[in-house]
Amino acid sequence: TDTEKGTYPHFMLKEIDEQPFVMRKIIQEYQDENDEIKLDANVRKAMLGADRIYIIAAGTSYHAGLVGKEFIEKIAQIPVEVHVASEFSYNMPLLSEKPLFIFISQSGETADSRSVLVQTKELGHPALTITNVPGSTLSREADYTLHLHAGPEIAVASTKAYTAQIAVLAILAVDTAKAKSLDFSFDPLQELAIVASVMESLTDQKETFEQIAKDFFAETRNAFFIGRSSDYNVVQEAALKLKEISYIQAEGFAGGELKHGTIALIEEGTPVIALATVGNVNLSIRGNVQEVAARGANTCIISMEGLEQEGDTFVLPHVHELLTPLVSVVPMQLLSYYAALHRDCDVDKPRNLAKSVTVE
Ligand code: G6P
Repeated sequence: TDTEKGTYPHFMLKEIDEQPFVMRKIIQEYQDENDEIKLDANVRKAMLGADRIYIIAAGTSYHAGLVGKEFIEKIAQIPVEVHVASEFSYNMPLLSEKPLFIFISQSGETADSRSVLVQTKELGHPALTITNVPGSTLSREADYTLHLHAGPEIAVASTKAYTAQIAVLAILAVDTAKAKSLDFSFDPLQELAIVASVMESLTDQKETFEQIAKDFFAETRNAFFIGRSSDYNVVQEAALKLKEISYIQAEGFAGGELKHGTIALIEEGTPVIALATVGNVNLSIRGNVQEVAARGANTCIISMEGLEQEGDTFVLPHVHELLTPLVSVVPMQLLSYYAALHRDCDVDKPRNLAKSVTVE
């Protein structure tokens, strides 16, 4: 069953492997009989009525929100702000006239997010919750819910919920664009089917990622992940994954910011993992890799078909350019998993962390 490990040594590995199925489940759940997007008409109306969207979330769900911002702004052309739930209450930004709040939460129980929901309800603003648990507090208390259909996620480190959140946000953005009659030639359901197959090919290559994890993370004290543009969103999640379960001090940085401080931390052998899946920043991120390599870093480039160069550690198969986070995160999840495994860490139940945090 969904809540048993079966033949897997850890829930995390099982949940990483489930991602292609989750993508297909989402396609099925969000598709009507004419292969068009099927989405709650009230959610569509709420999106159309918003002059600005405020995404509120914590942890991995916050990182999915960063990707969602890009989708909603580029595809549906609605301005979006993404906020860490715990900070939002202290420093509420000046809200627009017709805000829509989107709460992203795997569990639907995160207290920090709930307290923002309570605040925004008091102000009378509409709220949509995107969650894996439809009966959860955040789902019950919001006006609308979109379900992730990812099945129970047991490992503390979130994997399939992150990719499910991104997939649902892509569908939501395209649905809104269609309702606004924006010209956007991109069928998210078809593209997600391609993503599912690519995910499958990646989870079939576990030995490759296990070896990369050994090469880069076996003994290190720290590690850096760098990316530009949408890769920057994913490297932040990559760093969170690694620190959560392997206890390696890890940070995700914007390639262009390195020179403004972080590059001072590069020493002989410091692991720097770069994502290069975005065409218009391909050369600049590679420039950053050269800069850190020249200072002794142990560098690894994970690129995408069409953008690859000789010497890249791994080349991801091509997917739609907006959906690259869905596939580039999979190697990052597997690298973290194997790093933790080979450092004898408790993969599914890392120290000091809880699956869902119901205190503020
Ligand atoms: C906890 C978990 C994280 C998760 C975060 C937000 O800190 O350890 O993995 O990303 O809560 O959880 P949510 O259920 O709101 O997505």
